[in-house]
Amino acid sequence: MSRVCDLSFRVPRASFQSAWRDLRMTFLSIEFGSEAYREECELRHRVLRVPIGLSLYDEDLSRESGQMHFGLFAERKLVACAIAVAISSTEAKIRQMAVSQGTQRQGCGRKLLQALERELAARGFRHFSLNARVVAAGFYEKLGYTRTGPEFTEVGLPHVKMEKRLAS
Ligand SMILES: CC(C)(COP(=O)(O)OP(=O)(O)OC[C@H]1O[C@@H](n2cnc3c(N)ncnc32)[C@H](O)[C@@H]1OP(=O)(O)O)[C@@H](O)C(=O)NCCC(=O)NCCS
Repeated sequence: MSRVCDLSFRVPRASFQSAWRDLRMTFLSIEFGSEAYREECELRHRVLRVPIGLSLYDEDLSRESGQMHFGLFAERKLVACAIAVAISSTEAKIRQMAVSQGTQRQGCGRKLLQALERELAARGFRHFSLNARVVAAGFYEKLGYTRTGPEFTEVGLPHVKMEKRLAS
């Protein structure tokens, strides 16, 4: 696990349960195969697979060794994660975005995606694409993403392609 940036923000008091008040969040890159990667897989398993009756561990995760992994940590505990895949030198596809169930709708997803976009922009990416679950499309729209195609089914759920392009 390596430090990318310290977001230096404090979660708004009003929107957090007492246990989460004033915890400082840190955005970090995660090394494939590390202990933090195992924590990332567990978060993705719990948030993205268990609720739809699937297991992340039934999937071939070896291809993820060449992908970019990031997490938002509160006091060393992973609360949100996402993966970015280089499609070209300027386009990155964002996948597997997940916020732990106890901290959803409290600003962590926004903080993670904004930090991820800044990190990807620093690496030269100007175009971000993703397959959004339709139930989460409103979240991405709030972050400036637009729908780019019709709905389709993935892991048994309706999805839609979305993208965001940075001004050059
Ligand atoms: C979708 C998800 C990543 C959003 O992260 P989050 O931390 O809950 O979202 P935030 O609190 O940062 O929300 C930012 C804004 O998006 C809105 N938002 C969050 N989830 C939303 C949703 N599912 N639909 C519509 N709007 C949503 C919030 O209300 C907030 O709006 P505001 O700024 O007007 O208050 C998270 O809820 C999650 O992991 N959900 C389960 C797994 C999932 O669906 N992952 C995405 C797969 S494509």
